[in-house]
Amino acid sequence: MKAIAITPGTQNIQLVDRPEPKVSAQDEIKLRVLRVGICGTDREEASGGRADAPPGQKELVIGHEMFGQVVDVGSGVQAARPGDFGCFTVRRGCGHCPACLNGRSDMCSSGDYTERGIKQRDGYETEFVVDQQEYFVKVPKDQVPLGVLSEPMSVAGKAINEALLIQTARLPGPHDLQTWLKGKRVLVAGLGPIGLLAAVALRLRGANVLGLDVVDANSLRPTLLAQLGGKYVDGRENKPQNLNDSYGQIDMIFEATGIAHVEFDLLGALGINGVYVLTGIPGGDRPLAIDGAALMRALVLRNQVMVGSVNASREHFQTAVDDLGKAYKTWGKTVEQIITHVVPYTDFEEVLSHHPDNEIKAAIEWSKPQLG
Ligand code: BGC
Repeated sequence: MKAIAITPGTQNIQLVDRPEPKVSAQDEIKLRVLRVGICGTDREEASGGRADAPPGQKELVIGHEMFGQVVDVGSGVQAARPGDFGCFTVRRGCGHCPACLNGRSDMCSSGDYTERGIKQRDGYETEFVVDQQEYFVKVPKDQVPLGVLSEPMSVAGKAINEALLIQTARLPGPHDLQTWLKGKRVLVAGLGPIGLLAAVALRLRGANVLGLDVVDANSLRPTLLAQLGGKYVDGRENKPQNLNDSYGQIDMIFEATGIAHVEFDLLGALGINGVYVLTGIPGGDRPLAIDGAALMRALVLRNQVMVGSVNASREHFQTAVDDLGKAYKTWGKTVEQIITHVVPYTDFEEVLSHHPDNEIKAAIEWSKPQLG
């Protein structure tokens, strides 16, 4: 079968032949890969950055945002039957830290975790994949067009949940994880796929969403945000430190820009007792000049929290799939429009090396769903 593999640390990326995997244990599921999303991590790997081949191998099969259809299951599999749709999660635990031993490899504290398509484990840019049922999340048939958004939605959802866990634990008041966001003002910075999916999850939970980007107000990202009931803020005309005055107390900032200086500037927009959750992974190593004393002073004097969030557990994937289902019912095709580019696997070089301005989420298609 075909697969897209890179030699880590180089730009040598090609279509390779790999043996088709088989179900060889009771708890395994085999999926025909339908679509695999492309994100900054894939493009970073393709340009010679962060990627690590499995031990003893020279190449890594890339791809981690997968969606597929079940073709075979082991005799002990309860969670899926051939014909079902679903995806496998990304991270596999280290097997020895408390987080991984409790099913939360997304919080692995040893650093010895592996990630399919990223760190020491082949990924999903291929025709078939096999993994254990504990890493499988089923996607209902009526939400197949959104299946490839499950992984980025899980990343956005985990980050929001982290912020909620912190706020509900530290702030007085009658509230819980389900209700805290109702009526709160949240600034989503960066209206790429993670930012827009965060806006979806936040709107579903009743938040007032401001979405910051630097594109024209009539382009697709602000248009989708408006359809979700969010308000667009053009970062070319509004300084972060003025946003609190213009729009009122900002209770949460969800960062999805991956641009270090913007990440620091945004702190100026955070309101009293606010929480700031970061998901972007900035590249490069250029030093930054920042007004450190002012930033730290504000953080202390306003009881603010800043937290980073990466990856997602199986539970976050489940919530992501549930949220995408609700979003489909609430906003119909709006969420589907986040997927702007779908290309056949033979066009992998073009999609991995170019990010057109009008792209939100691009995906590689390996096969079409069988909806019989
Ligand atoms: C993926 C995460 C992964 C992270 C770090 C992101 O692109 O979505 O699942 O943990 O990269 O490797």
